[in-house]
Amino acid sequence: MVTFKGAEGQSEVPPVGPVRVNAEAGSLVTLSVLFSVADDALVKWSMGSLPVVTWTLGSDVPADVAGAHSDVLRLERDGSLSLVNVPLLFYSHNYTVVFTKAGVADAQAVFELKVYERLQNASITAEPALAVEGREVFSLNSSVQQGEVERRRWFLDGEEIDGSSPHYSLQEEQLLIHQLGRGDAGSYSLQLLNPLSEVKVHLNLTVLYGPDEPVLEVLPAQPFYESGDSVTLSCRAEGLPVPSADWLFGGGVHPGSQRGILTLTNLVVAQGGSYTCQLRNKLSEALRTKSTVLLIYERPVGYPECSVHATVSDDLQYRCQWPGGAPRPSLAFPSVSDGGSVTGLGALSLTLAPSEGLDWRTIVCRAQHPLLEASCNVTARQPVDFLPRVGADVDPDGRIAVTLECLSDAVPDAVVTWLRAGRVVSGSSNQHQISGNTTRLTVRHFNVSEVIREDFSCICSNPLGNKSRTTRLLGPSISDSSLLPNQEGTAVTLTWEVPPLSLVTGFDVQMRGPALDETLQRSGEFRSIQVKPGSARSAGVLHLDPESTYHFRVIPSAGRMAGEPSMQNRIGPGDGLSGAAVAGIAAGIPCGLLALLISTALLYLSVSHCRRSGQPRYPVSRAVEKAVASQPDSALPDYNKLHAPSELSLAVPKFVPPPPVRTATTV
Ligand SMILES: *[C@@H]1O[C@H](CO)[C@@H](O)[C@H](O)[C@H]1NC(C)=O
Ligand SMILES: *[C@@H]1O[C@H](CO)[C@@H](O)[C@H](O)[C@H]1NC(C)=O
Ligand SMILES: *[C@@H]1O[C@H](CO)[C@@H](O)[C@H](O)[C@H]1NC(C)=O
Ligand SMILES: *[C@@H]1O[C@H](CO)[C@@H](O)[C@H](O)[C@H]1NC(C)=O
Ligand SMILES: *[C@@H]1O[C@H](CO)[C@@H](O)[C@H](O)[C@H]1NC(C)=O
Ligand SMILES: *[C@@H]1O[C@H](CO)[C@@H](O)[C@H](O)[C@H]1NC(C)=O
Repeated sequence: MVTFKGAEGQSEVPPVGPVRVNAEAGSLVTLSVLFSVADDALVKWSMGSLPVVTWTLGSDVPADVAGAHSDVLRLERDGSLSLVNVPLLFYSHNYTVVFTKAGVADAQAVFELKVYERLQNASITAEPALAVEGREVFSLNSSVQQGEVERRRWFLDGEEIDGSSPHYSLQEEQLLIHQLGRGDAGSYSLQLLNPLSEVKVHLNLTVLYGPDEPVLEVLPAQPFYESGDSVTLSCRAEGLPVPSADWLFGGGVHPGSQRGILTLTNLVVAQGGSYTCQLRNKLSEALRTKSTVLLIYERPVGYPECSVHATVSDDLQYRCQWPGGAPRPSLAFPSVSDGGSVTGLGALSLTLAPSEGLDWRTIVCRAQHPLLEASCNVTARQPVDFLPRVGADVDPDGRIAVTLECLSDAVPDAVVTWLRAGRVVSGSSNQHQISGNTTRLTVRHFNVSEVIREDFSCICSNPLGNKSRTTRLLGPSISDSSLLPNQEGTAVTLTWEVPPLSLVTGFDVQMRGPALDETLQRSGEFRSIQVKPGSARSAGVLHLDPESTYHFRVIPSAGRMAGEPSMQNRIGPGDGLSGAAVAGIAAGIPCGLLALLISTALLYLSVSHCRRSGQPRYPVSRAVEKAVASQPDSALPDYNKLHAPSELSLAVPKFVPPPPVRTATTV
């Protein structure tokens, strides 16, 4: 009967199968047996099928131990086998012991010895080192520096990982995770076991993810912005680590972009366009972009302007313009029958053949811009009736410069064609000069008589029609004159008017009467007291003697040509005769009484006529009568009606015919 003591305890029960013995490498292990039939029995230990020790119990001869194992194997006196400093390798075996004694049946026992090391320095490593979401296979590898692992258990956040889940594959030393997700982050533990020891190691797994779908924000949120506005773009996205964000514009990172925030102040149109936010996970290098478009509009300059022009082929070109603006304003002539198709950006033109329908027709241009709408219009019209204007001046070389102006209101502006004595005046010459806009003709001549002999015509035309007028200029003349004394009779103001077509470059104011200064002069003749320029319409005379009689007249001149003197005006007690009568007497007409009677009667008639008509009228001077008589029979416009009175005539008091006899009220 063999008693098995096992490695530790002692068993009296005969083993059925091999007795399992786990031993730590380096320790002393004894496979104990107790053979009750002592002495002389032969004991044989085999390692697997190889006999390693034989001995006769109780003999003095040392046990026979296989040479290769003599350092390790030692037979005890009772037949038990000890393994000294058992190495990890080679000694994990089935050991069989057989006792043989003559007359007794062999006794046999089997030990299954397993040599282990303690588990030490276990660790988990991740493959690859960076766990990035979306990876197809990610593995956690376990490693042990020492010890044979019999069992591994993986845990995530304390719960054992179920190896049957398709998300995981549990392999010898690896845990494979399929389709790594951010949910796989956590605290991983690995428990390693063998019969001698148990170790647990941990790994905190961080799964990098993102940038996720970026969130863009534009504040204030508007469909478009106006130049000068301010706007803030912001951009962010979830991610681990939090992704960096930059705004890209025009091919590079916008310098103002800071942590995904870009503030743009005082916007200009060039800042419009696509802004792209680029998000980057600095660890995983994952990139993500998202764009937004900024529309920046700018108002066009001012307001749309409509105009109409004559083309070379005498058509009408309607134009509509509105400069500037972003986008360019869209313009249209909706009122034109096919105007629906006539649209343009910024500038638009439409050429129409002149027709009856266009005269006085208002063409509207509608302009549209995202920021504002506006319209303008233009009305083309043919030239209207007009009156020529005349001015005269003397050149330094003594020539008289006559300026004729024909200005007819028309749209487009009328172009003036000038004719002199029926022949077209073209271009500029020594004698003629036409202003750039054709409305003025300047004629220079030494001899005024030459100028006033001929007809001047101007034809104002635009594509819609024309108006013409023929003028014959008048020589220097005065249409009207009057005299206004002051209360004391010591000063007078002489005023006069000039017919509109008369050429005048100066006036000679003349007086007949006592000398104003000590200079001795004959009082019977007119003498020049003042010279006035062509623009003058009045003259003042001072230091008059209220007791004396004075006569005044004005002689107009054009260059060297003198015109007819004005009517004489008289002041002072005199001889009771009118100026005209005095002139008559001075001329030597003998029948004074008759003249007195005629002039008195004339005066009476004149006064009574004025009273009857209830409206004082400017007497028409002889010079004017003459001028009118010399007019060509073409219809002369009534300048008194068409022209506003000159500035000066406004200041002139109403003309009152002089009384026949001056009363001696003034002292
Ligand atoms: C020991 O014996 C058992 C049972 O016969 C067997 O399963 C095992 O493989 C043997 N061990 C060795 C190391 O031979
Ligand atoms: C285990 O780790 C410790 C400390 O890092 C080291 O001193 C020891 O040598 C290691 N043991 C083995 C078997 O690698
Ligand atoms: C894992 O994380 C937990 C808490 O988050 C911490 O207490 C522990 O020390 C970490 N373990 C390792 C190995 O970093
Ligand atoms: C033309 O324009 C003027 C002012 O620019 C405006 O008063 C008038 O109403 C417009 N006429 C039309 C027909 O649009
Ligand atoms: C025409 O030109 C003259 C001289 O250049 C100028 O004085 C005048 O004002 C112009 N008239 C118009 C209607 O433009
Ligand atoms: C001026 O012209 C007129 C008319 O042609 C002529 O009679 C007169 O002699 C001319 N005077 C001078 C100074 O040439």
